[in-house]
Amino acid sequence: MTKSPIHGRISGPIVMIGFGSIGKGALPLIERHFEFDHARLTVIDPSDADRKLVDERGYEFVHSAVTKCNYRELLTPLLTKGGGQGFCVNLSVDTSSVAIMELCREIGALYIDTVVEPWAGFYFDKTLGASDRTNYALRETLLKSKRENPGGPTAISTCGANPGMVSWFVKQALVNLAKDLGDTAPEPKTREDWAALAQRLGVKGIHIAERDTQRARNPKPRGVFVNTWSVEGFVSEGMQPAELGWGTHEKWMPDNGRKHETGCGAAIYLLQPGANTRVRSWAPTPGPQYGFLVTHNESISISDYYTVRGAKGEAVYRPTCHYAYHPADDAVLSLHEMFGAGGVVQEKHHILDEHEIVDGIDELGVLLFGHAKGAYWYGSQLSVEETRQLCPYQNATGLQVSSAVLAGMVYALENPNAGILEADELDYKRCLEVQTPYLGPVIGVYTDWTPLKGRPGFFPDDIDESDPWQFRNILVR
Ligand SMILES: NC(=O)c1ccc[n+]([C@@H]2O[C@H](COP(=O)([O-])OP(=O)(O)OC[C@H]3O[C@@H](n4cnc5c(N)ncnc54)[C@H](O)[C@@H]3O)[C@@H](O)[C@H]2O)c1
Repeated sequence: MTKSPIHGRISGPIVMIGFGSIGKGALPLIERHFEFDHARLTVIDPSDADRKLVDERGYEFVHSAVTKCNYRELLTPLLTKGGGQGFCVNLSVDTSSVAIMELCREIGALYIDTVVEPWAGFYFDKTLGASDRTNYALRETLLKSKRENPGGPTAISTCGANPGMVSWFVKQALVNLAKDLGDTAPEPKTREDWAALAQRLGVKGIHIAERDTQRARNPKPRGVFVNTWSVEGFVSEGMQPAELGWGTHEKWMPDNGRKHETGCGAAIYLLQPGANTRVRSWAPTPGPQYGFLVTHNESISISDYYTVRGAKGEAVYRPTCHYAYHPADDAVLSLHEMFGAGGVVQEKHHILDEHEIVDGIDELGVLLFGHAKGAYWYGSQLSVEETRQLCPYQNATGLQVSSAVLAGMVYALENPNAGILEADELDYKRCLEVQTPYLGPVIGVYTDWTPLKGRPGFFPDDIDESDPWQFRNILVR
C-alpha cells in the first residue's frame, strides 16, 4: 500500500477497552491513521497476555476488568485527562455497551463498539427467558437510550465487520442492483428512500453470507474450541436463540418460532441455539453451502432499517435478514464437539493467529435475493496472505473487523455531534472509502442458485415450490 492517509486528529485521550484479537488489530490502524497524543492512550484488559505490545509502544496498560461497579470511576478520569475530546474504543467482552456509551456521552467523549454487549453473566443467565436473551432485547436497550437522549456526542454502535461493514455492503449492493435492473431514480438519501428502493427492486431477503476458509497449520486437538476470532464471543452468541429479521413475504414460521411482544417488531427468534441451527445459503467460493443462523445485531437492524410502513404504522414491506455463517472448519468441528457434549463448552479456547494459519480467506458479504436477477452476492474476499502484507497482529477475519472500527472512528470524528448511530445510519460511501484498502478483492456476483436447487432429492421434503425464497426452504430441518 502507498503512504497511509491520516484521517483526522483525536484531540483528547483514547481509551481502548479489551485487547483481544480485535483490539490488537485495531491499535496499529489507529496509530497509522490518526494524529493523537501518545501519552494519553490507555488500554484496559483483565488479561495481560499481550501487554508487551502496549508497553513497548509506551502506552498505559490498566490490568483490570471494567465492571458494573467500577466503570464510572475507572473510565471518567482516563477519558477526560488533559482536555480535548476523548475517544472510547470498546473491543471487549462482558462490558455493557449501553452503560459505557451513556457515560461517554455524559462526559462528552466519542464512543464506538462492535456489538451490543451486556455485563458479564447475561448470556448464560438461567433466570432469563429466551426472548430476554436475544440480540433483539439488547438492541432495544440501545434504541431506548437513543430515543431518550437524541443528538449529542457521537456514539457508534455495532461497527465491526458484521454487524457493521455489511450494512454498507447492503447499500452498495442495492445501488449496483438498481443500475443493473435499470432503476434510474436518484440514489436514496433517507432511510425511507433506501427502504423504498429495496422494495422497488423486489429484494425479499438478505443473508450475511460468510465462508471462512482459513486453515490452521496443525489440526484441531480434541477438547479445544478453535476459532479465528473470540471463542468467548462466538460461544456466547451461538448459545443465544437463533434470530432473524422477519420479512413480509414469509408465509410459514417454524413451530418453535416466536414473535416479540414489544419493540420494533422487525425480528423473530427460534427456541434453539443459533450455532446449532443450519440454513442453506450461497457464497462465491463454495457456491451453495450450509451456514449457521447465529444471532447478530445486523439481522435485526437491517430488517428494521429497510421496513416500509403503511398509514397505520404496519409493515407493508420488510426483507428477511439473517446470518448464514460457515466459520473456519476448525470452528465447525469445535461446535460439533461442544453440542455433542451436551452444550458444555471446551475448557481450552484458542484463537488462531496469523502465523498459525497456512492459507485461506474470509469471504464475507451480503446475498440479496428474490429480485428479477435471482440472487446477488457483494462482499470482501480477504486472504490471510494479503492481511499479513496490510497490517500486523491479525488474521483476515480480524482485519475486516478492525478496519470497520477505523472507518467508524473516522465517521465519528467527522460527525462528532450525531448522537447514537447504528452502522446502517452512517454514510456508507465514506466508510467504505476508508475501509476498502483493507478488504482485499471486493466483488459483486450474480447466481441462479436458490434453496430449492436439487430438491426434492431421494426423500420427502417439506418445501414451498411457489416461492424459492421462503424461510421454509432455507431452514435445514
Ligand atoms: N462486529 C463484528 O464484526 C465483530 C467481529 C469480531 C468480534 N466482535 C466483538 O468484538 C469483541 C472483541 O472480540 P475479540 O475477538 O477481540 O475477543 P477476544 O476474546 O479475543 O478479546 C476480548 C478481550 O476482552 C477482555 N475482557 C474480558 N472482560 C473484560 C472486562 N470486563 N473489561 C475489559 N476487558 C475485558 C478479554 O480479556 C479479552 O482480551 C467481542 O465482543 C466480539 O463479539 C465483533
